[in-house]
Amino acid sequence: MRTVAAVARAREALMLSDVSPDEDGTTAPPGRQRPPADRAALRGDLRSALPDATAAVVVTALVFAFLYARMESGASDTVAVMPFMDDAGTYWMYLLSQAFGWSGLLWAWGTVMLGLLLSGPRPTRLPVSRRVLERWHRTTSLTTMALMTAHALMFAAELVRYETKVGWAERLWVGFADSFVPGWYDSGTGRVAIPLGQGALYLAIPLGLLFYVRHRIGANTWRRLHRFVIVVYVLSVWHTLLYGTNVWYGEWPRTVLWLLQVPVALLLLTRLLRPARRAERLGRPGGGAARSGWWLRVAGRAAAGAVVIGLVAVVVSGRDGGRDRPSHPPATAPHSQETD
Ligand code: HEM
Repeated sequence: MRTVAAVARAREALMLSDVSPDEDGTTAPPGRQRPPADRAALRGDLRSALPDATAAVVVTALVFAFLYARMESGASDTVAVMPFMDDAGTYWMYLLSQAFGWSGLLWAWGTVMLGLLLSGPRPTRLPVSRRVLERWHRTTSLTTMALMTAHALMFAAELVRYETKVGWAERLWVGFADSFVPGWYDSGTGRVAIPLGQGALYLAIPLGLLFYVRHRIGANTWRRLHRFVIVVYVLSVWHTLLYGTNVWYGEWPRTVLWLLQVPVALLLLTRLLRPARRAERLGRPGGGAARSGWWLRVAGRAAAGAVVIGLVAVVVSGRDGGRDRPSHPPATAPHSQETD
């Protein structure tokens, strides 16, 4: 006879699986052939991501047009930081890289918010079903990976175009190494900011795609690893705050970027305080290893609370790490080209 606890556990497992039982395949009745879930699920999600990816391309095009127009009009912050770039026609690939960076960050924001919404306390009323939210979470994370990759690729393409004084093989190598080899880029703020971006990209892809092999690695392993996706998001925002020339100065675009992090931190805190999975609730401290795990969880919740307070303090005080806009062209700029 099934006990009440066993029924509750089974119900929770069903409710909290990240896909519906049918899709997941793990709950198929005995005797029924499990579908080749991994590849089928990825193929299905890639198909479902098409409208999402189309919207991302439209957003990228709009951001590109905006950045292009600002460069043409002389209002570009990128040009204020790097005056040699005052030619939108020549530096269009750089602008496109920036545009992909912004759409990538926006999609990363959206997919992280959806993920936290799904793993935290259940909202009493949702505009769409939980299943649809789960699908959006998966498709937006696939789109985010593509946008991040496009951002880095366009930056590499711009470096290849820029290096006209050497042969093609060296141009390709320089573009690739500066963009994709951690520690290779050796100029200015980029020495730190580029590896942060690379770290985000290189973590995002495996952590995002692990979902599609969770049958092989086990749902628990997948769940444990998937949590680290928040690190991808933190690295992306850190990279942008450190390196984005359009948020270089301590003005409203930078404030908005900080402000957008408040709901993420609030949702993260709520998700930690009231996780949807019973097993993740804080409960009472146990003994031995359980006690140290309990303290770790308390520390995680305290850190998330401190981040919320820190973010509000940054936004209210305006002390957001932005530079003062110089009245003359700066002596130093973030990228290697400025020294040429
Ligand atoms: C291989 C990894 C990466 C490389 C080589 C890279 C390169 C760069 C460079 C050179 C800039 C400065 C552009 C400027 O002048 O403003 C930049 C800015 C930026 N990056 Fe990345 N990045 C990488 C990863 C990422 C990731 C994972 C994200 C997250 C979506 C991201 C989002 C951004 C954003 C939003 C900006 C600001 C653009 C602007 O100010 O207009 N980057 N990145």
